[in-house]
Amino acid sequence: MAKLSVKINEIEKSYPIFINNKPLNTLKDDIMTRLEGKKFLVVISEKVEKLYGKILGFEKSEKFILKDGEKEKNFINYKKILERALKLQLTRKDTIIAIGGGVVGDLAGFAASTYMRGINFIQVPTTLLACVDSSVGGKTGIDTDFGKNLIGAFYQPNAVFINTNFLHTLDDRQFKTGMGEVVKYAFIEKSCKADEELNLTNFLSENTEKIISRNLSTLEQLIEICIKLKISVVEKDEKESGLRKILNFGHTYGHAVEKFTNYKKYTHGEAIVKGIEFAFNLAVKKNIIDKNYKFFADDVIKKFDFKTIPDYPIEKMINLMKMDKKAEFEYITFILPTDYSEVGEFKFTEKDLL
Ligand code: GLY
Repeated sequence: MAKLSVKINEIEKSYPIFINNKPLNTLKDDIMTRLEGKKFLVVISEKVEKLYGKILGFEKSEKFILKDGEKEKNFINYKKILERALKLQLTRKDTIIAIGGGVVGDLAGFAASTYMRGINFIQVPTTLLACVDSSVGGKTGIDTDFGKNLIGAFYQPNAVFINTNFLHTLDDRQFKTGMGEVVKYAFIEKSCKADEELNLTNFLSENTEKIISRNLSTLEQLIEICIKLKISVVEKDEKESGLRKILNFGHTYGHAVEKFTNYKKYTHGEAIVKGIEFAFNLAVKKNIIDKNYKFFADDVIKKFDFKTIPDYPIEKMINLMKMDKKAEFEYITFILPTDYSEVGEFKFTEKDLL
């Protein structure tokens, strides 16, 4: 069992992250000890509610059950959550608790950030992707017809409770989508500037079988390593003005893959792995790294048997990458590998890429 903490702006908002595999019927009590006010609203994924609703033990009146899927991260559900909170007469001291994957966390977090100009917020991530990425660091938001996450806020939670028991029932594809982000951390580790050497690449090699078979204590260790790396980055750059951009490794091209396939064909993690492969190829072509590092990376990626995604026409991908919210005027920004577990920021024009 680990307890990590995140310090944003030194002390302005520091919060604990608990990682354990305690029985799930103890989770509610653990959460209750962290509440400031008496009242709370639980926003819970429908799937998680079906599987674990009883054992978690929240009353029906305390829950807002959110259907699953990215399309639920919308204005309508945002409004509904706020209205439920108003009906329950939550005050600023009360808490919104998100139990689910990234969609639930992002949506409930954004509602928490704007309800009464900010109410307490607790994250309980139930997917590997949410455990290693979206539940930590304070990015919240909703999607619109104009794009994903274009409306949102940086809003840090008050606490994060990670319980690996939830990961048992993730389907294989959802588990692997989380592994896509895990693999990303291995390639950016040194650039995260963590105080200790975590050596995620070695951990992945030495524990491949245990990870694939979801050994609980191995998953705890794996999540702890990834979160330590994320904390190190977020503490240094909460609002993504510099260092935090490295967390977007694989995302420039990966987001284009997701958009090109209407967010239907591939999961986020699958698209990110394709984006990582694209970044390695681009770095070789631009003589930033030598081929041996790319072959090494291919081997790390191969261990987890991610879905193969074809190369889509580069002109179309460039157009989509130009529309990314992180694109600047004529340049497309990429985070590219520069050395083993190190990355840097590079800007290319359309011509450079063609
Ligand atoms: N998911 C990337 C970040 O939190 O910055």
